[in-house]
Amino acid sequence: MATSSVLSTMAKRLEGKVALITGGASGIGKCTAKLFSEHGAKVAIADIQEDLGSAVVDSLGGPSNSTYLHCDVTNEEHVRNAVDKTVETFGKLDIMFANAGIADDNKPRIADNAKADFERVLSVNVTGVFLGMKHAARVMVPARRGCILSTSSVSSTLAGAASHAYAASKHAVFGLTKNLAVELGQFGIRVNCVSPYAMATPLATKFVGVNDEDLENTMNTLANLKGVTLKVDDVASAALFLASDEAKYISGHNLFIDGGFSIHNSAFRIFQYPESN
Ligand SMILES: NC(=O)c1ccc[n+]([C@@H]2O[C@H](COP(=O)([O-])OP(=O)(O)OC[C@H]3O[C@@H](n4cnc5c(N)ncnc54)[C@H](O)[C@@H]3O)[C@@H](O)[C@H]2O)c1
Repeated sequence: MATSSVLSTMAKRLEGKVALITGGASGIGKCTAKLFSEHGAKVAIADIQEDLGSAVVDSLGGPSNSTYLHCDVTNEEHVRNAVDKTVETFGKLDIMFANAGIADDNKPRIADNAKADFERVLSVNVTGVFLGMKHAARVMVPARRGCILSTSSVSSTLAGAASHAYAASKHAVFGLTKNLAVELGQFGIRVNCVSPYAMATPLATKFVGVNDEDLENTMNTLANLKGVTLKVDDVASAALFLASDEAKYISGHNLFIDGGFSIHNSAFRIFQYPESN
């Protein structure tokens, strides 16, 4: 059944809501923008890739449903402006999805990791999320409602899966999520993050240095959960759940979308069926 006909038979879960998605021009952010829009939300796309961001706006039906905002998340004025423009355009901000992120080249020896590269990753992945949270809270606290999401990773808890900078940054995103959930709980504002395993997006294929198909094959081989491939739609669905009223009592949570990958130490194989090899 097509998505539109499925939606016509079920309630739209974000009807009347306004969302701002950083990194909304590509990958997880783009897919989430589409799903949020299908569920009735107005969606502001904040990104540095203007052509791709504008194409997403067009695909969502144009300016009455969506808007593109040029926003480098490391620049506080850009983030302040993105929040203010969203409120100016659509009247309010219900959902901030601080999703923009980058990965650096993986240099296995810490001695080869340049300070500037480390700081660049932390600047986008941590400072960018902090600024998104800060300026979302600025308008959500007086309204006494709102939902703040960010994209962390299995590297929020798991070591050895990504570069030092990336792992440090994603641990920090979960730390920020928990700290802010405590601060904003008194205002009825929920703060959560999603932590996916690897999937084919420009960020991941560049990091691993392969095409989409090879990345998925490699990740499926390493995965705990077999017979299914992680897609951006799976992360968008998790974000939709956390943004919707179905998650109205969930805050401070790190939702793993990893098929059990991060809870499994693959050195232990005591449950391995011989026939599943
Ligand atoms: N793809 C994966 O396997 C994977 C796994 C776990 C977590 N993540 C996280 O998911 C998030 C989204 O990444 P993706 O995989 O969809 O990658 P992507 O490259 O498709 O999308 C990232 C988007 O962020 C934007 N961006 C980068 N720097 C920015 C900046 N300074 N200001 C504003 N926008 C900026 C890019 O232009 C791009 O549109 C990231 O936080 C990433 O760390 C990805």
